[in-house]
Amino acid sequence: MSLKLDHVTYVVSRTLLDDVDLEFKAGELTALSGPSGSGKTTLLSIAGGLVEATSGTASYAGESMWQGTGDPRPEVSFVLQVYGLVPILSARENVSVALRARGVKPADADERAEAALARFHIADLGDRQVEELSGGQMQRVALARGLCVDAQVLLADEPTSELDEGNRGLVLAELRKEADRGAVVVVATHDPAVVDACDRHYVLDEGKLVDHIEPIDLHHFDHPERRIIEEAAPPHFDEEVAPEPVTEPAEPTGEPVLVETPADADAAFRRPSTDS
Ligand SMILES: Nc1ncnc2c1ncn2[C@@H]1O[C@H](COP(=O)(O)OP(=O)(O)O)[C@@H](O)[C@H]1O
Ligand SMILES: [Mg+2]
Repeated sequence: MSLKLDHVTYVVSRTLLDDVDLEFKAGELTALSGPSGSGKTTLLSIAGGLVEATSGTASYAGESMWQGTGDPRPEVSFVLQVYGLVPILSARENVSVALRARGVKPADADERAEAALARFHIADLGDRQVEELSGGQMQRVALARGLCVDAQVLLADEPTSELDEGNRGLVLAELRKEADRGAVVVVATHDPAVVDACDRHYVLDEGKLVDHIEPIDLHHFDHPERRIIEEAAPPHFDEEVAPEPVTEPAEPTGEPVLVETPADADAAFRRPSTDS
């Protein structure tokens, strides 16, 4: 069983995905990386049936993922980049609704939700309203919700972006369990340590698949994840990073001062500086 993208192209005002052809296998953890805006979220949305490809198809076990409505097939579960939690419900309720929506009886759903929160060490937060939680705690609630339903296809969009190293390791171990029970697990990520923990790695750049990387062999490269990401880096990542502008203390004119901060979200994709 596998999730296949067959020559998927997606065009809105411009081409966001360009002839992407790949296969995510059951039982494996697959990393999908690439700079911000390269199309990872768009790809997961098409792969999970939320969005229809302009041309080409996404299918699981031979069945089309797009069902004509934007509702994913029941075998699909998402961990969304923006969490998709209901702020005024408790953490437990947010997880439980995913189970109830799949026909699990409320009492059983609550019990399974509790167990799912415990997988991510946040059982003690079950009664708290989600809007009171920190970003990292919300991210773990979203993971509990995505993983509690035993989906055959699990699509996780940057699921460790707000987590410290310990919690990242915990999440990777839980994602591995999902693959081990036979699920297709796809993880969009910026994080080389997450790529490193996966069995397979695809890289997107401006909507195109850069390379088809075979299972990572740690013995061949000191830093395989860095090598792959460097190869994927578009030319502008080779350029020198502009030094931070020296700003004089502003005269107290009473006018608001606009200070531009350099965006550093893609630091992981830059080559390390060689002039040391
Ligand atoms: N509905 C849309 N209409 C126009 N542009 C979009 C739409 N959705 C996403 N984009 C753009 O598509 C590109 C890819 O976005 P995305 O898939 O979110 O990338 P990533 O997840 O890799 O950061 C970005 O430039 C984004 O601004
Ligand atoms: Mg994204």
